[in-house]
Amino acid sequence: MANGFILKGDLLARLGEARSVLVLTGAGMSAESGIPTFRDALTGIWARYDPQELATPEAFAADPSRVWQWYEHRRALVREAQPHAGHLALVELESMLPELTIVTQNVDGLHQSAGSGRVWELHGNIMRSKCHLTLRPISRNWLADSPHTPPRSPYVKGGLARPDVVWFGEPLPSEALEAAMETAARCDFCFSIGTTSLIQPAASLPLYALEHGATLVEINPVETPLSPHADQSIRAEASTSLVTLVSQLRSLRRDNN
Ligand code: APR
Repeated sequence: MANGFILKGDLLARLGEARSVLVLTGAGMSAESGIPTFRDALTGIWARYDPQELATPEAFAADPSRVWQWYEHRRALVREAQPHAGHLALVELESMLPELTIVTQNVDGLHQSAGSGRVWELHGNIMRSKCHLTLRPISRNWLADSPHTPPRSPYVKGGLARPDVVWFGEPLPSEALEAAMETAARCDFCFSIGTTSLIQPAASLPLYALEHGATLVEINPVETPLSPHADQSIRAEASTSLVTLVSQLRSLRRDNN
């Protein structure tokens, strides 16, 4: 922070003047709310569990009860979690700019709980469930009344409740993906926060924004494949980075008025 600002050079001014900002978030955004990431070496979910056995349609077909119970455990963590100061900083940033869109790979709903208004969920939401055959949503009341693990579908014989998340090998929700691509193409500033930038198509969104002329800033304590492309990589955690950044943008605005 040579000039005392978290963003280098004129990047803070560019953010302040942006008409449309895209914020892509990954598991690192939720880490400080107590939700484990996937690929961090010791604490990541995929360090302890094999995704092929828990997060694929084949895994669910082979052992629906095991998969459902594993998601019950993850839902319990999400129920306990609260948005942190970084989530709230993004809400404030949205109020300071003409347009800020969050595209998240997270399935925990923390951006919405914090109060962010424009949020697209690329990988679904773990608190919602759907029929594994018809893909129609299943209400929480129906699930609560069911004695089965997993609960049976209200729609079709043989159907079971499954989490409304995107498993490996499944397509992303088309409305969210189209909105994400459209926002990436027209945004003038893009943040990539707390993601390893490994899983497609989410990983391509910041590059797509860059190709269309956006400024790109990454927030992640460690280097990722996106880092060499970014105008700046802030090597710090999401909460402190975002709180500092928003407070500095607020001060800049005050000084300029
Ligand atoms: N602040 C910012 N970044 C952090 C923090 C933090 N406090 N803590 C960890 N990180 C970073 C890690 O350095 C890592 O690069 O967050 C990233 C988390 O990466 P992953 O666990 O791979 O999560 P993500 O990129 O969101 O995974 C994408 O993979 O398994 C699937 O569907 C799952 O949505 C997930 C997708």
